[in-house]
Amino acid sequence: MTDRTDQYGRTIDYMRVSIIDRCNLRCRYCMPTDIKWLPPKEILTLEEITEICRQAARAGIRKIKITGGEPLIRKGCIELIHMIKAIPGIEQVTLTTNGVLLAKYARQLWEEDINAVNVSLDTLDREKYKEITGFDALSDVLDGISEAEKYKIPLKINVVPQRGVNDGDCLELVELARHRAIHVRFIEMMPIGHGKQFESISNNELLLNIQRRYGQVEEGKKIYGNGPATYCHIPCFRGSIGFISAIHGKFCSSCNRIRLTSTGEIKPCLCYDDHISLKEALRSGCKDEVYQLLLRAIRQKPAQHCFDEDQTMITEKKEMAQIGG
Ligand code: 5AD
Ligand code: SF4
Repeated sequence: MTDRTDQYGRTIDYMRVSIIDRCNLRCRYCMPTDIKWLPPKEILTLEEITEICRQAARAGIRKIKITGGEPLIRKGCIELIHMIKAIPGIEQVTLTTNGVLLAKYARQLWEEDINAVNVSLDTLDREKYKEITGFDALSDVLDGISEAEKYKIPLKINVVPQRGVNDGDCLELVELARHRAIHVRFIEMMPIGHGKQFESISNNELLLNIQRRYGQVEEGKKIYGNGPATYCHIPCFRGSIGFISAIHGKFCSSCNRIRLTSTGEIKPCLCYDDHISLKEALRSGCKDEVYQLLLRAIRQKPAQHCFDEDQTMITEKKEMAQIGG
């Protein structure tokens, strides 16, 4: 018996789990250079994260996404995936990474039977990559993608279009899906943390550019991920093109997720600072209380975000890197 339905009738079966606040890149919209790291003792141990996932499975969560910061820089990330995969009720474990260390870990991820990997990549231009992320690491990311392909790990590329920065590169990124089994997804910039300083380009604008270049595209029906992306298929392309339109195509009515931060807080919605801390219950060994708190977080999930309205109503002050996207 599970109780994963929230007060608006949405089935909450997906939890994003941030396992570290640190990252080996400094994407301008996600992680400012002067960010303050959390003290290590604030961060949950791998065993603690696993226990929360176990209680979350009891509460009806079926899919887990491991995020960060950058999850692959956390020591024991692969062991954690192993432990979470073994939890009864968890059907899928996936990972979001910037791809810099993916070549090194692709084989181990495949051995753990990871269900999919999302790689964040906003441009295929080396200089621009450096400008956006602060590091000359494009070739490492491309090597990582190739290595993951070698092991046939299902792959998605996440692109966040930024006006005047990489909006001209999007069609080149679309081309990644032509001959390869790669799904390329465009995510509208959300006004969280440094993302506030950027204009959110509507995915409709992008779709028009795609139609201009490739002609009429088929609207896809197949669901490739955990949530709100819509897909289109370009004739003769192997991979699909997806759109996550949080701002211009608000999908809150079908939202299926909660978020766990690296310090043990459950966030029912990205937009608001409201959270429930599991750490105290967890560290005093009250597993059943952790379960009850998870149920409460699911029930308290707000109806919708307010990104498209008055931005002063956004109460979340954290950077995206501290939440895990
Ligand atoms: N809006 C939308 N996406 C964002 N990401 C980070 N910050 C933002 C933002 N403000 C994306 C990253 C990564 C994913 C985890 O979240 O590019 O793909
Ligand atoms: Fe879900 Fe909140 Fe995101 Fe809307 S803003 S999709 S309710 S997490």
